[in-house]
Amino acid sequence: MLKALSRREFLAKSSVMAYPAMMAMGMLRAAPAQGFSWQGSGEGKHVIILGAGLAGMTAAYELQKLGYRCTILEARERAGGRCWSVRNGSKNIELSRPSQTARFDEGLYFNAGPSRIPHHHQLTLQYCRELGVPIEVYNNVNEGAYYFSEGKGPLSNKKIRAREIHNDLRGYMAELLAKSIDQGKISLDMTKEDASKVIEYLRAEGGLDIDKLYKSSARRGYHTPPGSGETAGKINDPHVLSDIIHSGLLDPDFYNVAEYTYELQMTMFQAVGGMDNIAKALEKKVTGSLQLGVEVTSIINTETDVKVNYKTKEGAKSVSGNYCICTLPLPVLSNLEHNFSSDISRAIDFTPYISTGKIGLQFKRRFWEEDENIFGGITHTNNDLTQIFYPSNGYLGKKGILIGFYNFNDKAKKVGALSYTDREKLALEKGSLIHPQYSEEFESSFSVSWHQTQYNLGGWALYNSETRKTLYKALLQPDKQVYFAGEHTTYLNAWMAGAFESARSTVTALHARATEQRIEYPTKN
Ligand code: ALA
Repeated sequence: MLKALSRREFLAKSSVMAYPAMMAMGMLRAAPAQGFSWQGSGEGKHVIILGAGLAGMTAAYELQKLGYRCTILEARERAGGRCWSVRNGSKNIELSRPSQTARFDEGLYFNAGPSRIPHHHQLTLQYCRELGVPIEVYNNVNEGAYYFSEGKGPLSNKKIRAREIHNDLRGYMAELLAKSIDQGKISLDMTKEDASKVIEYLRAEGGLDIDKLYKSSARRGYHTPPGSGETAGKINDPHVLSDIIHSGLLDPDFYNVAEYTYELQMTMFQAVGGMDNIAKALEKKVTGSLQLGVEVTSIINTETDVKVNYKTKEGAKSVSGNYCICTLPLPVLSNLEHNFSSDISRAIDFTPYISTGKIGLQFKRRFWEEDENIFGGITHTNNDLTQIFYPSNGYLGKKGILIGFYNFNDKAKKVGALSYTDREKLALEKGSLIHPQYSEEFESSFSVSWHQTQYNLGGWALYNSETRKTLYKALLQPDKQVYFAGEHTTYLNAWMAGAFESARSTVTALHARATEQRIEYPTKN
């Protein structure tokens, strides 16, 4: 017999239900809208948008709402740009090497580009809401993942749970400081009462004993876990501080501070089923304006309009519009013919982009979960892999894809220079040092070196305080009829939020000009 569910029962059963579905059923109230609509119409105006990544498609989506006609030119046969999840049949082209096709099981994927959304990237989450893209928690921080330091120290070449190192270091650092304060070795500009509060805090923070010494603590995990009957659980002695130091585990490769970073603090999210579901949802909104497989060759900018020449399979063509929003990555734009001002040309030619790469490895068994209790999170290593990311979806399933390396700068250049087969070999050889199960369980791989990928030629823009004043600044202003958008025109480099924010800010500026209004983005409350 069917039984009506109480609201509470329904919510308990539907904890896996997608947020938009719950909202549609009236179970959740819509979050306050972050409306983005301006007065005035863009009717009769044509905007050419270069690049169908998140910035380009969002700009078109918002301009269309205002009545503009848009044409989006995208060189690839797919939209989404870096917002791309690799699934069975996905293809990528890197310079001077054959095209690569992913051979994964149906339903499995990895995010080759963005893989995590900070909880404070409101606009990204707002677009997920507006476009009906379900999200789930992305587990960025896992004390049960490993540190693995290659080298000659006593703790080198061993996998060590992050919680052991984190809590030992917390303990030792707290002990050092508490001792120094106690013995008057550092002078504190505070009262005795306040100093004793600091010491009490350090005792709690470091897990120190009554004598302010770090002995050990269950925080660092158990040798024998607690259980039934007489099994109280047994903890090990801490690692010796000098062993940690001499094994390189105090080096920048292992700085835990990366996980304290504002953008990497939990809670983080991902789109259910692949981050490119965000791009796909946007694509549906702009499909009538989108042309795939067309490669821009030149941009001719005048005082009154803009003409873009491009190549298609059928031959050379051109399109003219009142305005253009160029979202092409700067290293790609640098190879095109254009007549931009010298300041903008300099920004295009000289803004550095990061080198970065990832490899997805499909395994026939989720041994990291089954054998090692690792559910999401990151293993850190000082070798060329840099990091191993465990998937934050499909827990307790049969197979899975983990990210076997995610590296940057020189390591990414070195690994990216290898053939696809040699990248796989390296990921397996180095990864097997941490997870010997690799050799038994590996099925297939797919790697992406973003700085070598056609139509990207880099991971994301890198500015310093000096170039923010020069190169960056130049890109914030339109050059006659052409505007620039993309993460490289924001302080949100490497985040989808950069694409979204830049699209909105560019649409605002363009619309203000086209309709002769004074409007500003972000709006001041
Ligand atoms: N946003 C990039 C990442 O999550 C840097 O790794």
